[in-house]
Amino acid sequence: MKAKNPVKITDTTLRDGHQSIFATRMRTEDMIPIAEKIDQMGYHSVEMWGGATFDVMHRFLGEDPWERIRTLKKYMPNTPFQMLLRGQNLVGYRNYPDDVVEAFVQAACDAGIDIFRVFDSVNDERNFETSFKVIKKNGKHIQGTVCYSLTERRLGGPIYNIDYFVNKALKIQEMGADSICVKDQAGLISPYDAYELIKALKEKLDVPVQLHTHFTSGMGALSLLKAVEAGVDVIDLATAPFGMRTSEPAVEPFIVALQDTGRDPGLDLNKVFEIGEYLETIIPKYKRYADQTRFSVIDTTVLVHQIPGGMTTNLVSQLKQAKALHRLPEVHKEVAQVRKELGSPPLVTPSSQLVGAQAVMNVLFGRYKMITNQTKDYVYGLYGKPPAPIDPEIQKIVLKGYPRGETPITGRAADLLEPELEKAKEATKDIAKSLEDVLIYALFPNSGLQFLKWKYGIEPMPDSVKPITLEDVQKEEELMQLAREGKLIRKEDCPQA
Ligand code: CO
Repeated sequence: MKAKNPVKITDTTLRDGHQSIFATRMRTEDMIPIAEKIDQMGYHSVEMWGGATFDVMHRFLGEDPWERIRTLKKYMPNTPFQMLLRGQNLVGYRNYPDDVVEAFVQAACDAGIDIFRVFDSVNDERNFETSFKVIKKNGKHIQGTVCYSLTERRLGGPIYNIDYFVNKALKIQEMGADSICVKDQAGLISPYDAYELIKALKEKLDVPVQLHTHFTSGMGALSLLKAVEAGVDVIDLATAPFGMRTSEPAVEPFIVALQDTGRDPGLDLNKVFEIGEYLETIIPKYKRYADQTRFSVIDTTVLVHQIPGGMTTNLVSQLKQAKALHRLPEVHKEVAQVRKELGSPPLVTPSSQLVGAQAVMNVLFGRYKMITNQTKDYVYGLYGKPPAPIDPEIQKIVLKGYPRGETPITGRAADLLEPELEKAKEATKDIAKSLEDVLIYALFPNSGLQFLKWKYGIEPMPDSVKPITLEDVQKEEELMQLAREGKLIRKEDCPQA
């Protein structure tokens, strides 16, 4: 019997699942064999594009990101395709001018994206204006997003309280959003806060509400269950092998937990099981990208410091480069301080990278002795208006001698940006064969141009971008085994001469 009000599921396996666990490395060729089966599941949508996929595909996989949409569409004609769009930052790390945003969103509509989850890293809804317009014009689904963030351990306090999220959501609904997503990128939302927040949103909003959270802190599945009780319309889950850890909670337990309840999603458990079995067979190729430094599947630093998993990875690698990994506890404290001084933005791409990099600089060289260009642009207002005012003292220090001016702007950031599309067309006129090619360059000039050279055979693709095969993995494992048995002396095992 069909449930009265089945909760709908967005399957994130093909985007956030492998982005969160396997550094976004999953290749299209490994998606194809399972695509039809995922399509038969009856999911509300499949998130399969956007976020970091565009960057990683062209840069590290030598794959044309646009092709993935068209290829998968052939195998998955029945399930709406969903992408994650960083508002005016598109799938990059800075605000792009309106002409680039318009062309990019139009190209994504043309290629086959149906649902656009649009967020902004400082929750400045003015950064939605341009993309919303294009999505609407194409008759596609606008999912307006509020990034979940906290300043206290739990929901509340002067900035991130229920009113903040409800008012943001109402504003975004008014701008034309077809649904609202609360995006909890760091896995911070706790179960009873999720219940209260979803309840409040369901009361105030006319459009459906979706909750995106991560398993990271260990609260993810608990919070989604409470959200389901509070009436959330859609939740994000991943197939087990690509779920949990820093990814979304797994779909399988939800199918059983909600069976025969009023919110039974009505999905075929055996079919998901088969999808999971397939994913297990390709995981040996991707395991090397997973975090194997800890045995724990949950990241308790999130509960303590509220720093998202991906950000910790970046901080660790920056400190390692500076041979200062022992200063990580200081950096954790400094992240909190810098974030507060910069107006308490949510920690999500790109604000998380910006706050993290500045915190590392402050610890290594003294507070604001060295200031990144990103921090300068941010304080000037080029990323938008943060939830709280920027500390005026810090503002003065950061903007001293800043070429655009020492007084920050208050208007929409993109109004200040010169068009870039024509310049990108000109720069790629000898190599680009389509607007899609031009856009790869417009977003990522260096790696984008390199990719176009590979794509059109002007330069050979290096081995580092070529796929790893299961045979490669097997050969590596055999060598490792020989090494363990002492039958092979590895160079790194030799005593230093
Ligand atoms: Co996510």
